[in-house]
Amino acid sequence: MMRTRPLKVALLGCGVVGSEVARIMTTHAEDLTARIGAPVELAGVAVRRPSKVREGIDPALITTDATALLKRGDIDVAIEVIGGIEPARALIHTAFEHGISVVSANKALLAQDGAALHAVADAAGLDLYYEAAVAGAIPLVRPMRESLAGDKINRVMGIVNGTTNFILDKMDSTGAGYQEALDEATALGYAEADPTADVEGYDAAAKAAILAGIAFHTRVRLDDVYREGMTEVSAADFASAKRMGCTIKLLAILERAADGQSVTARVHPAMIPLSHPLASVREAYNAVFVEAEAAGRLMFYGPGAGGAPTASAVLGDLVAVCRNKLAEATGPGESAYTQLPVSTMGDVVTRYHISLDVADKPGVLAQVATTFAEHGVSIDTVRQQGKDGEASLVVVTHRAHDAALTGTVEALRKLDTVRGVASIMRVEGE
Ligand code: NDP
Ligand code: HSE
Repeated sequence: MMRTRPLKVALLGCGVVGSEVARIMTTHAEDLTARIGAPVELAGVAVRRPSKVREGIDPALITTDATALLKRGDIDVAIEVIGGIEPARALIHTAFEHGISVVSANKALLAQDGAALHAVADAAGLDLYYEAAVAGAIPLVRPMRESLAGDKINRVMGIVNGTTNFILDKMDSTGAGYQEALDEATALGYAEADPTADVEGYDAAAKAAILAGIAFHTRVRLDDVYREGMTEVSAADFASAKRMGCTIKLLAILERAADGQSVTARVHPAMIPLSHPLASVREAYNAVFVEAEAAGRLMFYGPGAGGAPTASAVLGDLVAVCRNKLAEATGPGESAYTQLPVSTMGDVVTRYHISLDVADKPGVLAQVATTFAEHGVSIDTVRQQGKDGEASLVVVTHRAHDAALTGTVEALRKLDTVRGVASIMRVEGE
C-alpha cells in the first residue's frame, strides 16, 4: 500500500555528487515513489557557500547549519556527501542520535571509523549504507555483503580509483604528462577535493580497507593497508612494461593467506599483462575481480567516479534505506566475526620488475644475480642494455616474499657497481 506522508531527506553537501543526487531525486520522483512505496522529499540541503547558484534546487532548502537541519525533528534519512572526516563524522553521529538513517559516499571516514559508526547505527536500530564509497556506480558493496554472504571470498583485486586510472591510461595511450592528465581528471569531477588522496593511493587504500572488511568479515582499517601512490610511475616504466607485454595500473589487492589465518591488504602500482581483463579498463572506469570459493571468479566493472555515476549508487542506497524504514527493519550491519589479523607487506608473495643502473663491466651481472640468490629471490628473466660503460639491467623475478625483495634491494644499493635502483614494480595478474 502506498504511504502518502513523504519520507524526508536531508542532503548534506551539494557538490559534484550531491548536486546530481538532488537532480535525480527531482527528475525521478515518481519512479522513486513507486519503487519505495512512499514519496521521498528533499527537505533540506546543507552546504558551505549558501550564495552559490545551484541549478534546480529551491533556494529555500539551502542552509549552512547542517546540525540544525538534522535536529529539527522531521528528517528520516540523511545523505552525507560532504566528504572528509569532520564535520561529516559529527553530523552522522548527530543523525543517529536523532533516529535518522544515513547514506554516505565517504570512504575516508568509513575506512577510519566504520566500526564505531556501525556500532552506533546498530545500537540505534538504524541503517548505515555506503555503496557509493567504493568504485562509484558499480554495485559492489551490496553484492559482496549480501549476494556473496553464503560464499567464502579468498581474493579481491581491482582498480578502485578513477582519477589514477584516468592518468595512467592517458600517460600510456597518448604519452600525456602526469600534471596535464591530473588537471583533466579534476576538471571532470573525478578527483578528490585534494587530489593527493587519489595520486598517493589514500583514496584507493580507504576503499581497500572497506572491501577487505566486507570480503573477509574482519576489521581492516586504513592504517592496515600497505599503500604506494603512482606519482613515481614514469614513461620509462611504461616503455619497460610494453616490452614485457604489460601495462601499469594502480591496483588494490586483498588476499586471505593460504592457511586462512590472516589477510593482507595493499595498494600500489603494478604491471599486468595486456591480456588481463584489468589491462583494458580505460579512463576513469573501475573494475574489481572477486574470487570466491563456490562462485569462482567474478568481475564488477563500470564508472568509478563522477557526479551522476556516484549519485546512482547513492540513490540505490536511498531506496533500500527508505524501504527498510517502511518495513520497520534495518539492512545488514558490520560483520567482523572472523577477527582475522592483517599481516604486513613483508608477508606478501608476488613477482617483481626491478630496473637497475649498473656499471657495464665483467662480473657485474654475476654480482647482481648472487645478491638475489643470497636473499632467496629467484630470477625469471634479465635484460641488459649497455651504453658508454654504463648499463641498464632489468630483472624480473619469480614469486618471492616482499620482505626478501626489500632485503635484496637494500643489498643491491650497497654494491659499488650498482649506480642506482631506477624502479621497483610488482608484476600481478599472471
Ligand atoms: P565536493 O567537494 O564537490 O562537494 C562537497 C560538498 O560539501 C559541497 O557542496 C560543499 O559545499 C559541502 N560542504 C563542505 N563543507 C561543508 C560543511 N562544513 N557543511 C555543509 N556542507 C559542506 O565533493 P564530491 O561531491 O566530489 O564528494 C563528496 C563525497 O563523495 C566525498 O566523500 C567523496 O569522497 C565521495 N565520492 C566522490 C566521487 C566523485 O567522483 N566526486 C565518487 C565517489 C565518492 P559548497 O558547495 O558550498 O562548497
Ligand atoms: N576520487 C575518486 C576516484 C572518486 O577518482 O576514484 C571516486 O571514489
